[in-house]
Amino acid sequence: MNNDNINRYEMQFERDRVHVEAVLDKCLTPPHGHQESSVWQAARYSVLGGGKRVRPILFLMTFRMFHRDVPEYVYRFAAAIEMIHSYSLIHDDLPAMDNDDFRRGQPSCHKVYGEGVAIIAGDLLLNLAYETMLDASDPAFSEACRCAMKTIAQASGGRGMVLGQALDLSLENACFSAVTIEDVEAMAKMKTSALIAAAIEAAGHLSGASEKELFDLRLAGQHLGLAFQIRDDILDGIELSDQFGKTRHKDERDGKKTFVTVAGQKEAISLLSFHTEAAKNTFLRLQRRGRHVDGLMELTRRLKERTY
Ligand code: IPE
Ligand code: IPE
Ligand code: MG
Ligand code: MG
Ligand code: MG
Repeated sequence: MNNDNINRYEMQFERDRVHVEAVLDKCLTPPHGHQESSVWQAARYSVLGGGKRVRPILFLMTFRMFHRDVPEYVYRFAAAIEMIHSYSLIHDDLPAMDNDDFRRGQPSCHKVYGEGVAIIAGDLLLNLAYETMLDASDPAFSEACRCAMKTIAQASGGRGMVLGQALDLSLENACFSAVTIEDVEAMAKMKTSALIAAAIEAAGHLSGASEKELFDLRLAGQHLGLAFQIRDDILDGIELSDQFGKTRHKDERDGKKTFVTVAGQKEAISLLSFHTEAAKNTFLRLQRRGRHVDGLMELTRRLKERTY
C-alpha cells in the first residue's frame, strides 16, 4: 500500500474515533435531575477519558468492506460495543480482579469513585450498551440487527468474555508448571478475541454478508483478537511509549498467566506474527470475493506494532 493510502486510512480511523466519542458522550447523558449522580460520573470518567477505540473502529471498517457510506445507526452500534469493552475494563481493574490502579492514563475508576460505584458503573454501561443498540435498530427490528446483537451478547457473556475472565482468575493461583500455552490461548480466545471477533462479525450481519463471508469475518476476528492479547501481554513487559497508560510489569508481579509469562517473549512474538498473518490471509480471501479490505489490512498491521 502506498503512503497516500496509509495516510488516508489514518485519517479515517481518526474521524471514526472522534465520531464514536461524540456518540458516546451523547448516550452517556445522565437522566434529568441526576447530573451529579456518582454512577453516571464514574461511567463518563471511564468511557470518555481515553482509549484507542479499537473495537468500534474495526466494526466500522468492516461495515465499509460492504458499503461506502456509514449510516448514523451503525455508529451507535459501534459506541455500544465500546461501552461493553469499557465496562469490562472497569471490572478488570477492581481489587478482586487485577487490582490495577491505572487505566487509560488516569487513576482507575474504583480509585476515584470507590469500588461500589465502579461495580455499578460497569452494570450501567452493560445495560446502556443494549439499550443503545435497541434504540439504534430500525423500527421493524430487522433480522440483521437481531443477529448483530445476539453475536455481541454471546461474545460478551458466559460463552465469551465473562468466561475468559473467569478462566484468567482461576489460572492466577495455579503453578506455572501446571499451565500450558494452550491454556493461555483458550483463555485469551474468550476474554479478548470473542468481543473483537464479534465486533467484526456483527458488522457483517448489519451489512448483509453471506454465510461464507460471515465465517471468514469471524475467523479473521478470532486471529486478530488473539494477536491483540499477545501484543497486550508483550507490552506489559517492555517500555515503548509514554502513552501506555497502564501499570507496567504487572502480569509478572501478580503471577498472571500470559503468552509472555508462560511461553516467553520470543515465542509470544512468533505467535503474534502467526495470528496477524492468519488474520490478513483471511481478509485477503474476502478481497478475492470483491470486498474492500485495505483499511482492515492497514489496521491489522498497526495493531501488531502498536506501542500502547
Ligand atoms: C485492553 O484493551 C484490554 C484487553 C482486552 C487487552 P485495549 O488495549 O483496547 O484498551 P483501551 O480501550 O485502548 O484502553
Ligand atoms: C483484559 O485482559 C481482558 C478484558 C476482558 C478486560 P488484561 O487484564 O490483560 O487487560 P489489561 O492489561 O488490564 O488492559
Ligand atoms: Mg485481566
Ligand atoms: Mg488487567
Ligand atoms: Mg494485560
